[in-house]
Amino acid sequence: MQTYHIRGGQPLKGTIAVCGAKNSVSKIMVAALLTDELCILRNVPDIDDVHIVSELIRTLGGEVEFKDEVVTIHAKQLHTVEPEELHRVAGKSRIPILFAGPLLYRLQEALVPELGGCQIGKRPVDFHLKALETLGAEITCIPKGYAMKSQRLHGEKICLEYPSVGATEQVLLAAVLANGKTELSNAAVEPEIMDLIAVLQKMGAYISVDTDRVITIIGVSRLGGYTHTAITDRIEAASWACAAFATNGRIFVKNARQLDLMAFLNKYRQIGGCFDIRDEGIEFWRGENLHSTTLETDVHPGFMTDWQQPFSVLLTQTPGASIVHETVYEDRFGYTEALNRMGAQIQLYTDCLGGRFCRFGQKNHLHSAVIVGPTNLHGAEITVPNLRAGFSYVVAALAAEGETILKNMELIRRGYGDFENHLRELGASFDVEEEDV
Ligand code: EPU
Repeated sequence: MQTYHIRGGQPLKGTIAVCGAKNSVSKIMVAALLTDELCILRNVPDIDDVHIVSELIRTLGGEVEFKDEVVTIHAKQLHTVEPEELHRVAGKSRIPILFAGPLLYRLQEALVPELGGCQIGKRPVDFHLKALETLGAEITCIPKGYAMKSQRLHGEKICLEYPSVGATEQVLLAAVLANGKTELSNAAVEPEIMDLIAVLQKMGAYISVDTDRVITIIGVSRLGGYTHTAITDRIEAASWACAAFATNGRIFVKNARQLDLMAFLNKYRQIGGCFDIRDEGIEFWRGENLHSTTLETDVHPGFMTDWQQPFSVLLTQTPGASIVHETVYEDRFGYTEALNRMGAQIQLYTDCLGGRFCRFGQKNHLHSAVIVGPTNLHGAEITVPNLRAGFSYVVAALAAEGETILKNMELIRRGYGDFENHLRELGASFDVEEEDV
């Protein structure tokens, strides 16, 4: 267990480099199981999710090496393992369900555990299971997971109820080697999904991304290896941008990509944030005139749900009432209770505030927030509940008066590489306590 003691009030200044995107790299690693050829992925961050996926692949019989931001995967031969074993390795990761398609292709069967992941809503896997069944998988519930069988999946028309990132990746990974054409409508089109599609194309797949969220996949009988450099992490980039604003500092985020951050940059500018976009990255700082705003999280190209938490901390510092309407997860405001203990004024509502109705509106979920600022934040003792909430507490702690104690900070290692060093390089004042449990 890791506990951070953060002393606020120090503007963060300097340069940090962001690495490959957690939510792209992990899926591209799974794609390596679609072939018995060598796959090489560059720009890989040293984060827990990468280690978990590496271990899952090894457990299934593949070879994985990770050195100097490069992962090499060679899945020459694979074998099934019990869901308990995968679950033990995967812990809280949601990646194991994405192994279904590749394993069905390689072994004609797949055992997949129930999923973990950050507790930010129910996070069911019904879209995944329904899509796999439509493609021809026979699925039975077994203790602690699902057993799947199929001689060869076949292409079909699938329409997702909601543009789920994971379910879109599931269909891509399953349909590329299926027999015939799959047409996926209402698909997610996040940059991380485009990165996965780019890799699959390199491997020999036929995939077209058409207008109106339709993805068409023509199955092939065999795929080859890949060499690829993953896109950089737009969540990490935005998180450091928030740290610059909250502390009234100035951070150059090397490798940040404007095209993947458009929706974030618009909101950042609207509340008084400034940025300078250069070839090598983006510099972020806080301007003179700050403003409140109204925002709605959404699927790409909207404002990402994973930007919501650190950005909400900024709204505690801007004058007036801001509204944040979370439309991706029904339960992603739990972290605001601790911010209120730090002095923020955040009130949650079950209504869809901000003008647009979403699927959570009639369901009694506290999914809208009114944040009144500016408020003086002060230190508190907080247990970090999940990855993105964790970073938002760090941002709040850096802006607060006095010391904030953050427990469970090992969760940050799931998604932010070199986190402690980055904080030190930027001049934050903090100590880290490690405890074996
Ligand atoms: N959903 C269903 N049924 C399903 C799948 C999803 O109802 O079968 C619902 C979810 O409960 C949620 C919504 O659909 O309300 C969107 O979920 P999605 O499937 O898009 O999310 P995910 O694939 O599980 C990924 C990222 C998340 C990110 C979301 C949205 C990974 C490993 N995780 O999750 O990232 O918030 O997409 O962009 O790629 C994070 O990095 O901290 C993180 C939580």
